[in-house]
Amino acid sequence: MSRKKGPGSSLFEVRDGDAAPVDRSTEVVPAAVMKRAHREKLQLCDALERIADALPSVDRLKCLGTANAIVPLLRDIHRYEETVIFPAYEEAVVGSNANLASTRRLRAEHVEDECFAGEVTEILLAIGHGETVENPEAIGFMLRGLFENLRRHIAFEREHVLPMIGIVD
Ligand SMILES: [Fe+2]
Repeated sequence: MSRKKGPGSSLFEVRDGDAAPVDRSTEVVPAAVMKRAHREKLQLCDALERIADALPSVDRLKCLGTANAIVPLLRDIHRYEETVIFPAYEEAVVGSNANLASTRRLRAEHVEDECFAGEVTEILLAIGHGETVENPEAIGFMLRGLFENLRRHIAFEREHVLPMIGIVD
C-alpha cells in the first residue's frame, strides 16, 4: 500500500489515521521541522514586506507566487504546531493555567492569521492577474498587518513555547 502525496504535501503534514495512537510522553519533538517551519514563515513575511515596500510598483509574478504559497504554508505549519508542538508544551507545563492560556491564544491567532491570509491572497491574486493598484496605502497597510502579526507570533513561540520543549535557536 503506498501513500499518495498530493501537491500540497509538506514536511509539516501530520498523518492522521496512522497505525497506533501516539504516546506523546515519549515522542521526540522534531526540532529541525519546527525551525524550518518558522524559517519558511519568516521568508514569507519578508516576501510580503518586499511587496509592500515596492507599492505602488508591483512584480505581478511575485504577487502570484506569494499568493499561492501563503494559505497552504500557514495551514500546514499551524496544523503541525497544534497536533505536535502545543500538546508537548501543554504536557511540559501541566498545572500552570497561565501557560495553557498561551496555547489557547496561539491557536486563536492561527485561525485569525489564516483568515487574514485568505484576504491577502485574494488581493495579491488580483494584482498578479493584472488588476490596477488603486489604493496602495490600504494594500500596504493590510500586508504589513499580516506579516507583523506573523512575526510577533513566531517571536512568542520561539521565546516561550519552544524552549519549554527543548527547542532552542
Ligand atoms: Fe503558531
